[in-house]
Amino acid sequence: MGFNVISSDEAALLIHDNDNVGFSGFTAAGTPKVVPEAIACRAEAEHAAGRPFRIGVFTGASTSDHLDGALSRAKAVKFRTPYQSSADSRAAINAEEIAYCDQHLSELAQMLRYGFFGQIDVAVIEASSVSEDGKIVLGCGVGIAPTVCQLAKKIIIELNAHNPKELAGFHDIYQPADPPLRREIPIYRPSDRIGVPYIQVDPSKIVGIVETNVPDGVKPFSPSDEVTMSIGRNVSDFLTAQLKAGLLPKEFLPLQSGVGNIANAVLGFLGNNPHIPPFQMYTEVIQDSVIGLLEEGRCTFASGCSLTVSDKMMEEVFRNLDFFRNKVVLRPGEISNNPEVVRRMGLITINTALEVDIFGNVNSTHVTGTKMMNGIGGSGDFTRNGYISIFTCPSVAKAGKISAIVPMVSHLDHSEHSVNVIITEQGVADLRGKAPRERAELIIENCAHPSYRPLLREYLALGRKGHTPHYLEAAFAFHEAFLQSGDMAQTSFAPYR
Ligand code: COA
Repeated sequence: MGFNVISSDEAALLIHDNDNVGFSGFTAAGTPKVVPEAIACRAEAEHAAGRPFRIGVFTGASTSDHLDGALSRAKAVKFRTPYQSSADSRAAINAEEIAYCDQHLSELAQMLRYGFFGQIDVAVIEASSVSEDGKIVLGCGVGIAPTVCQLAKKIIIELNAHNPKELAGFHDIYQPADPPLRREIPIYRPSDRIGVPYIQVDPSKIVGIVETNVPDGVKPFSPSDEVTMSIGRNVSDFLTAQLKAGLLPKEFLPLQSGVGNIANAVLGFLGNNPHIPPFQMYTEVIQDSVIGLLEEGRCTFASGCSLTVSDKMMEEVFRNLDFFRNKVVLRPGEISNNPEVVRRMGLITINTALEVDIFGNVNSTHVTGTKMMNGIGGSGDFTRNGYISIFTCPSVAKAGKISAIVPMVSHLDHSEHSVNVIITEQGVADLRGKAPRERAELIIENCAHPSYRPLLREYLALGRKGHTPHYLEAAFAFHEAFLQSGDMAQTSFAPYR
């Protein structure tokens, strides 16, 4: 190979204080592992020597502890976008040590190309292979890799031998032209391929190759509890009823599903439901449960931005790559989450809320309005544009001291105009075609925990006459009670009566 093979420490020396660095990957999948850790060590050394060293970090989505964890602990992050889910990064964001821009995932690549975030200085890309003429075959996640490769002045490749060479062909790399030249994105079915299976770069930009052999390190799911199972069952029953009522085409529609235990349970129930025909997925993250459904033939095709599969399951996928080759495609985030494509194909979108208000507004990101949890991720890309947008959540958190159903959300990510259906373990509120008061009644009676229904009814009764019957002075009484006593059940509306 004509490229410079360098150590991760040498790679870190190519990155300077204040650089904007774009990383490949999406979740832990395809995220570089040893170079970010080496950058963190370099930052610590620079800080110890009394010199500043902080960088801007741009990724496809969340990463892994190798990246967000290591860099945050080293206080090496000045700016971060678009999504993170690391405890260390979250703590630094909420301490206002990291300036965090919570960004729709589909929009980041084009915003970088438009120049809204400044110059990308270095791209760090995990690859399965790289050819002399600059064709990079990625690992198990794509994210913003094509765009940062195009924009960066220098490219560092982490060539990860853990990824089999046979991953070649799983990716479909396509970047839309920017306005005013953009045309339609010609994806009409989840399985349509519109690009090439590699990123083409100018090989002279590749300043070093760091050789590694490290798995993505995705943890398996914990077994579903009763609440999660009930949510999964409620989603599955709701979609079956929609099919029976002729409100979904009989061949079903492609599914988008968020990540995590609820999504896992939902997919399990849909997979086992004999009334739901074999379906396709057009989603962000292809997780363990999707692999099982593909093997069983319940899911016939999965388009995503990453294979975020536990290490054990990944061994099985790697052993059977030929089986999965015509059943899986990995796309850049701006295509896997593209609003045009989501609207055209009519996705059933299923995402998770932290809290929902009685009028159908959703908070997916902020605890009591101030503390960032993870970020909006792709939930906005899908929710605003889906055929049916569903939000799921347990009706209570923290052993019942927090009601997920509140009078008014303490932060707004998805407005009542985009949110169609709320599903908790208690039941389903189908908000389509309903006026605000009707929505409130449905959400309180069907989705709120029984112990919070009287308080929510009391708030609704307080509301001033109007299209949306809020009583603003008391709208955050649940949150106030939690902040003061640690328990939303201590809310009293007596002062407002
Ligand atoms: N107020 C305060 N804390 C709350 C809460 C609320 N209303 N609701 C839940 N929580 C807490 C839980 O107790 C839990 O705390 P813990 O980590 O200390 O145990 C934590 O928030 C996570 O809740 P959990 O029920 O485990 O849900 P999750 O892991 O599925 O995460 C989101 C839920 C909303 C944080 C997560 O789905 C997310 O980041 N969503 C936004 C991005 C997205 O939708 N991505 C997919 C798009 S494709």
